[in-house]
Amino acid sequence: MKGQLTLVVPSMAYGDEIEAYRAEFLQPGAGNMNGSGSLQTLSVPEWLTLLKRDGHPDTCRDVPRSQFLCLRPRDGRVVGMVNIRHQLDEGMLHSGGHIGYSIRPSERNKGYGRQQLVLALDKCRDLGIRRALVCCDSDNEASRRIILSCGGVMEDIRARSDGKPVMRFWIALQGPPSQQGDGEDKDNKLSPGQAGS
Ligand SMILES: CC(C)(COP(=O)(O)OP(=O)(O)OC[C@H]1O[C@@H](n2cnc3c(N)ncnc32)[C@H](O)[C@@H]1OP(=O)(O)O)[C@@H](O)C(=O)NCCC(=O)NCCS
Repeated sequence: MKGQLTLVVPSMAYGDEIEAYRAEFLQPGAGNMNGSGSLQTLSVPEWLTLLKRDGHPDTCRDVPRSQFLCLRPRDGRVVGMVNIRHQLDEGMLHSGGHIGYSIRPSERNKGYGRQQLVLALDKCRDLGIRRALVCCDSDNEASRRIILSCGGVMEDIRARSDGKPVMRFWIALQGPPSQQGDGEDKDNKLSPGQAGS
């Protein structure tokens, strides 16, 4: 399984695959296209422009984020999408977490969801995040299993703004400190023990 997938930065070179990814999520029962920013409502060029804006601390709408496509190199298929928030604002600390992700419906149940989260956690490490908060709806069994298999430790269950219960997990990230930063804990302003509510 390891090595089957890789995370790449979105560009127009993947335009057709991005469109195909979105199209699959229009089918009934596809679930939410999590981890894709605002792709659902934008054209691909508009989306790419927004990603550039959101990737930079001076221009982002809330916190800086990194968007990745999860690519299967053997056939160039985009099987998943991941969005990583470099820091947590209050809403993300409450129920959003550091990482949003999805796998396209036609590629599910092949272990890609787990592999994608492993790759995403490597990106978090590179960003200097020492503990990643990963959240999922309490009825999302596949996502719960993925998070647990990556070392997630549940802190609590909270209600989202629409009332749905969300499970909140912390994943400790070992490894060398960020090469870009000073090794300071930049994942969130509050530690799990300080998280409140
Ligand atoms: C959640 C999601 C990413 C899972 O992706 P996936 O590639 O199918 O997951 P995996 O194949 O890695 O499977 C992970 C585990 O979940 C199990 N699983 C897969 N689909 C399942 C389902 N529908 N119901 C229950 N368990 C399921 C697998 O058997 C596996 O369990 P195991 O580790 O005990 O063997 C995918 O369903 C998805 O994109 N859903 C919509 C968006 C979403 O919910 N994102 C997560 C937000 S937190």
